Formats: sequence, C-alpha cells, structure tokens
Amino acid sequence: MKILVTGGAGFIGGNFIRFTRNKYPNYKIVCVDLLTYAGNLETLADMLGMSNFKFEKADISNAKDIDRIFNAERPDIAVNFAAESHVDRSIEDPGLFLKTNILGTQTLMDACIKYNVKRFHQVSTDEVYGDLPIDKPELLFTENSPIHASSPYSASKASADLLCLAYQRTFALPATISRCSNNYGPFHFPEKLIPLVISRALNDQSIPVYGEGKNIRDWLYVEDHCSAIDKIIHEAKNGDVYNIGGGCEKQNIDVVKLILKILNKPESLITYVKDRPGHDLRYAIDYSKIKTELGWTPSVKFEEGLKKTVDWYLTNKDWWQNIISGEYKNYYQKMYSGRETAR
Ligand code: NAD
Ligand code: DAU
Repeated sequence: MKILVTGGAGFIGGNFIRFTRNKYPNYKIVCVDLLTYAGNLETLADMLGMSNFKFEKADISNAKDIDRIFNAERPDIAVNFAAESHVDRSIEDPGLFLKTNILGTQTLMDACIKYNVKRFHQVSTDEVYGDLPIDKPELLFTENSPIHASSPYSASKASADLLCLAYQRTFALPATISRCSNNYGPFHFPEKLIPLVISRALNDQSIPVYGEGKNIRDWLYVEDHCSAIDKIIHEAKNGDVYNIGGGCEKQNIDVVKLILKILNKPESLITYVKDRPGHDLRYAIDYSKIKTELGWTPSVKFEEGLKKTVDWYLTNKDWWQNIISGEYKNYYQKMYSGRETAR
C-alpha cells in the first residue's frame, strides 16, 4: 500500500505520518509539502532516511508538479492535510488561503481521478459550521449542521469541502471528508493558542488572551485525530463525511490557567488583548456518527494530553526555539504589538 500525505511537514500531517509508520511499517509513505513558514523538515527528522519514506517539496496548487509526483508514485490513498491553517493570518491575507486551500484541493483531486487513486481524504475542520452560542450548551455541530463559515480560513475550507463532494458526485472521485475540532500535541506551531502559551510562559513572557477569554473550543489530542482519519480512510464509504471531536469544551482562559499551573508560572503573565475580528464563540462536536459507524472515540483525557504536550515542549526546546527566534519575531510584533486592552 502506498499513501501520499500532503502537508506532512506540519503539525497534524507530521503526527499522522508517524502514526501510520508505526501502525503499518510496510506501507510506503510519500510526503508532499511546500515547506511554508508552518512546514518544518525537523518534524520529520526521524523519517527522512527511511527506505519506505519519501519527501517531495511541492505546492499542491501547482498542477504540473502534482501531476509529475502522482505519475511517478501512483499512490493508493491520498490524504490532504496541506493548508494555510491559521485564522488570524487569513484575516491578513485571504488570497493565499483561497489559492492553497481551494485550488490546491482541486489540483489534488484532478490528479487522484487521472491516476485512479482508490481513496482521497480531505482533512477539514469544524470551523466550516461557523459557531454555536455559549449559553446553549445542548447545541452541538452534527454532519448535517449548515455550512456557515466566519473567517476567510473557514470559508476556504468550506469551499474545498463543497468541491470535494461535487467531485465525488460528478466524477465518482472516491472521497471522504473529516471535520475535526481543535487539536493539540507535539510539533504544534507556536502561533496557535496552546503552543503559544507554553513557549511564552517558559520564557516568562506575557500571554495574550483575546477579548475576555470566554470563547470555547473542543480540544482533541492529535493522536486521536490521527486514529480517526486512519479508520475513515480504511473503513468508510465513498462520500462519507465524519465529525471528529474531543467532547472536551473549555473556555480559553481556563486552558491558559491550566498550562500556567502545570508550568508553575504566575497568572500575572496573562494579558488581555483586542479580540480577533469575527471571533467564533464556541465549537462543540457531536461525534456520534464516527462512534457508531466506525467505533472511534477519543482516548486521551485533556489534563493527561496537556501534560504530555508540555513535557514534549520541555524536552524539544530546540524545535520551537528555532522557530520563535526567526521570522516569527516579526509576525508576533505585527500581530500583537499595541493590542493590549485596559482592564
Ligand atoms: P499546519 O499549518 O501546522 O501545517 C500545514 C502544512 O501544510 C505545513 O507543513 C505547510 O508547509 C503545508 N503547506 C501549506 N501550503 C502548502 C501548499 N500550497 N502546498 C503544499 N504544502 C503546503 O496545519 P495543521 O494544524 O497541521 O492542519 C493540518 C490540516 O488539518 C489543515 O487542513 C487544517 O485545516 C486541518 N485542521 C486543523 C486543526 C487544528 O486544530 N490544527 C483542526 C481541524 C482541522
Ligand atoms: O477548530 C479547528 C480549528 O482550530 C482549525 O481548523 C484551525 O486550523 C486551528 O488553527 C484552530 O483554530 P482556532 O482559531 O480555534 O485556533 P487558535 O489556536 O488560533 O485559537 C484558539 C482560541 O484561542 C481562539 O478562541 C482564539 C484564542 N487565542 C488565540 C491566540 C493565537 C487567544 O486568546 N490568544 C492567542 O494569542
């Protein structure tokens, strides 16, 4: 079996490659990644010399390069993790999100049809459903919730989902889609909340909390996301869409305080900053479909997963310090300077 993984030098794709290598040592894995600011070959350092693993630097929206790779590799399965993934960056530069997340997905699907790939899996997000009210905890996103995206990022992911379903119906592309809630774990780029808080707290720097910190996310340890995708690509029917979630809703401020407690750092590091425009209030996933049909449930409890994550950042300081000492400094300055709010 040969599996082509796009975006494998990023957070979830890198974890998925490691998960697949461990579970199926005989699979051949081809990683296609453009190595944008979010892609990092150090994430795949232990894979690079292995005979069953190949890395191809390419842009998923470059049809010529993608055709060349599919023609040479002839994968059985293609899993698309490659994306521009950060909501705040999509507010700064929507065009790049449309190019990568929509046209890139289309380019991959065209190649899958041409080279008879047996399964194309689109890694999507719960953000395609928009948000839920904070004061109605009984409401959850199901696979039938309306698509109602809030940010250029989520609109680009929603567009890719619609295109994927259209390709499945019109061209019989053997496609599946998963829509997952917020992941956390090793190799998470420190622009996202949890790794940002860990890395800044370890350096005794201020922790920026948007608005009042009351927005709610549903957290899932990244290996649980990988095991859900593994089940879908091997067991689901063409055209199936599955929600994946942690059943673990937390207000941002509580997540931040828990990390500070684990690290034994003071809450005085918390700094409230001007809110993200269009900030989604609450995400919460109903994952009963994948539970009933494929027998998947999350296995890692939040406190346990967070401790494992903090430990990983403590023992892999080089990985994130290399990132935050480079171009990231300019990014942080641009996004956060002068944003503090009076309280
Ligand atoms: P990430 O930003 O950490 O990694 C994205 C990877 O894609 C990087 O390695 C980057 O170099 C690569 N990439 C970007 N543009 C590319 C292009 N044009 N061609 C080839 N490679 C390109 O993202 P992540 O957090 O690992 O997310 C992976 C996928 O999962 C995304 O599709 C995202 O929408 C989805 N998702 C993420 C989460 C989450 O909590 N992080 C939750 C649900 C779904
Ligand atoms: O729900 C799945 C989505 O989760 C994925 O599709 C996205 O790719 C992923 O980035 C993530 O989106 P969020 O916007 O929820 O993640 P982020 O880590 O950027 O923010 C989490 C929450 O924390 C959100 O409510 C905004 C808040 N936040 C974030 C940052 C970076 C802060 O309060 N301060 C910050 O500095």
